[in-house]
Order: sequence, then structure tokens, then C-alpha cells
Amino acid sequence: MKLKNQTAIITGGTSGIGKATALRFAEEGANLIVTGRRTELGKIIEAECRLRGGHCVFVEADHTKAEDCQRVVDTALREFDQIDILFNNAGIVTKGTADTTPEEIWQDTLDINVTAVWRMCRLVIPHMKKQGKGVIINNGSDWSVVAGKNAFPYIMSKGAVGMMTKAMAIDHAREGIRVNAVCPGDTLVDRWIEKGYFEGSDPVTLAQAIKEASEHMPMGRFGKPEEIANAVLFLASDESSFVTGHLLLVDGGNTAQ
Ligand SMILES: NC(=O)c1ccc[n+]([C@@H]2O[C@H](COP(=O)([O-])OP(=O)(O)OC[C@H]3O[C@@H](n4cnc5c(N)ncnc54)[C@H](OP(=O)(O)O)[C@@H]3O)[C@@H](O)[C@H]2O)c1
Repeated sequence: MKLKNQTAIITGGTSGIGKATALRFAEEGANLIVTGRRTELGKIIEAECRLRGGHCVFVEADHTKAEDCQRVVDTALREFDQIDILFNNAGIVTKGTADTTPEEIWQDTLDINVTAVWRMCRLVIPHMKKQGKGVIINNGSDWSVVAGKNAFPYIMSKGAVGMMTKAMAIDHAREGIRVNAVCPGDTLVDRWIEKGYFEGSDPVTLAQAIKEASEHMPMGRFGKPEEIANAVLFLASDESSFVTGHLLLVDGGNTAQ
């Protein structure tokens, strides 16, 4: 029960890493506010968290809208009277090079991957200051520290998340607020399958296609959302009490190559 009596906001908790983190936090006794735009999924996660012992409220929210971010924070304070942990997880993946990225994609990427992160921090920091403690974890990427091909807007945004994390960590260290980033490498989430990243119409060929696609990874496999959630839990809990301004790579060694 590492998070007993702690209140955590998890943005983008309707699937993937956010969902896995919500379930993990629930097992550790946290009070949870989970957000996202897909209400049906959100309601299921709310129920799953409650079954695991956590008190969870799903709030339908689009974090590109300032008023939705405000409503999320207001709900957390109304339901639980405190905000101890913010996991800024909501994000989108965008492709392209500098010359092929349309203005609209640049802006959409900035809106959710960067501005929404800052906006949520700006809203919770005053409460954490009053409490004299708080933890913020931003979801970066291995592309917060190295670059790759044909993902220019996404890499730009995740690089910004890395430096926002460090800057906020320094500014708020003496107020008892720790700010870190989890930086996942390739992590297999349902969205990859839904988007048709792998060829394979039946489970056997799909599994084979996923295995082949992950051959470049040192461990010969992609990460699992639960493995990222465990790292987020470490950063959220007192076990990381002397860790701030850190970008924690959880990438199966991919950036060590
Ligand atoms: N999977 C990977 O390999 C990997 C690697 C590095 C970093 N990451 C990062 O991990 C985070 C989670 O991604 P994932 O891989 O778990 O994929 P995912 O399953 O697609 O999760 C993305 C989450 O963000 C939410 N979201 C997106 N736009 C939103 C908006 N405008 N307002 C509110 N919520 C929004 C989605 O919820 P709704 O659709 O319900 O709004 C969803 O819950 C992202 O920041 C991503 O960049 C992932």
C-alpha cells in the first residue's frame, strides 16, 4: 500500500500506459482521478480500479481545453480535498519530417504533448505548495533524449517535456515538490494493434509480426504497459524521495545501443 491516502491525477488513463498505471496505483491504495475523452472506456477503468481497492473517479476531459483541465483539478479537490501526485500521461504520436509536417499537426502535437502538461502542472503546483509536498511525473519518451526518423513533431514535443521536467524540478525543489519524467521505449499498447501497425489477421500471425518488429530491441521484445507503470509507481512513491529532475529511461536498453 505505497500510495495509501494519496490522491493522484492520471491524465489519459483510458488505455495503454495510463490505464496500466491507474490499475497499479489502485492496488497501492491511491485515490484516483482518471481522465480521457473516451467515456465508455473511462467508466470501465473506474470500475476496475474500485475492484482493486482504489477509490477512482473518471472525468471526461480533453486536455487541449483549459476549462477541462480546470474541471479535472476542481473535481480532485472536491472529491479528495488534496492532490499529491500528477501523472501527465495523455499524449499523441505524430509523424513527419520538418519539411513535411503541416502547421496543424505541429499545433495539435504541441497542444496535447506540451501545453497540456504545463497547464496541468500550473494548476496543481499551488495546491502542492500549500501542502508542502507533491510529486509530478511527466510521460516523456526515449525520444526525450535521443532522436529518430520521421517523427519530427513528436520528438520536438517529447524533448520539450524533458526540459520542462528539469526546469520545474529546480524551481519547486524547495517547496517539497519533486518533478520527474518516465521515458518509455517502444511499449506495446492496444492502440498499435488498432492502428494496424502489424500485419496479421489472426492471433498467430499477429504475434509473429509483433515479434519480428521488436527484433531490434536488445531484449528482443517491446515493453509492456505494466512495466512502465511500475517505474511511474517508483517515481510517485516515497521510495524515490531524493529523485527529482530525472528522466528515467524504461526502454529495455534500446538507447544504450
Ligand atoms: N507506447 C509507447 O511505445 C510509448 C513510448 C514512449 C512514450 N509514450 C507515451 O505514453 C503516453 C501514453 O501513450 P500510450 O502509448 O499508452 O498510448 P494510448 O493508449 O494511445 O494512450 C494515450 C492516452 O492519452 C489520452 N489522450 C490523448 N489525447 C488526449 C486529449 N486531448 N485529452 C485527454 N486525453 C487524451 C488517450 O485518451 P482518449 O483517447 O480517451 O482521450 C489515452 O488514454 C503518451 O504520452 C505517449 O507519448 C508511449
